[in-house]
Amino acid sequence: MNVIVVANYDEMSERAAAFVAAEIGHRPDLRIGLPTGNTPSGMYERLVGMHRRGEVDFSQISTFNLDEYWGIEFAHPAAFARYIGDRFLAHVNVPEEQAHWPDGIGQAEQNAAAYEVLLSKGGPLGLLILGIGVNGHIGFNEPGTNFASRTGLVPLAERTRQDAFHPRSGFDSAEDVPTHGITMGIGTMMESRRILLLASGQSKAQAIKKALAGSVTEDVPASVLQRHPDVTVIVDEAAAALLDAD
Ligand code: GLP
Repeated sequence: MNVIVVANYDEMSERAAAFVAAEIGHRPDLRIGLPTGNTPSGMYERLVGMHRRGEVDFSQISTFNLDEYWGIEFAHPAAFARYIGDRFLAHVNVPEEQAHWPDGIGQAEQNAAAYEVLLSKGGPLGLLILGIGVNGHIGFNEPGTNFASRTGLVPLAERTRQDAFHPRSGFDSAEDVPTHGITMGIGTMMESRRILLLASGQSKAQAIKKALAGSVTEDVPASVLQRHPDVTVIVDEAAAALLDAD
């Protein structure tokens, strides 16, 4: 694992955007897995800026959102598909047909199977970008998820549901946060050629420590990344604070 510790959130966002742009520079038709959450929003903002300045061309890439709340329509203010649309896709030149997400409405098994087909059709993702939950989850794969899991419907941990509700979340109340999500599986994610993990802030320090330096266990989904041959972690000092401490 290549762990890059930076000063703060802005620097993490800057480095992440530069990393993604460089990957696209090497491979213009890159297939990229995209996360949501507060962590990557600064990265998206910078990628949009780079695009406006003509520094990066997204016309050949394909995007695949990591996950979605179950039971939430695209138009819902909390929908992850809408997050990626509003913060990134609406401002860059990814052709519509090259942007993909798991549907949060309909038949879960069918949606998941259809997404797996889309994901595997063009070969493994060239780059998967991940955030991390305070309990070590990746995508919506909560502690206890089998490392071999494929895309599917999963229950959300109570902590994840609590963290999902805040004034700008798009949910009216904590009870409105769905109890389930549809997410790329851990086995699915691990097939990606390269993985970029981002984390910022003190609340992620414990999860980062367990994921990077703890034992590889299904109790900490992100610890599976220790088994991947090509992972870069960009983490700020607050999130890296416990890395060298025993
Ligand atoms: C959600 C998403 C994850 C994301 C996590 C952390 O649970 N499904 O993909 O990594 O939130 O979000 P944040 O970056 O806001 O802390």
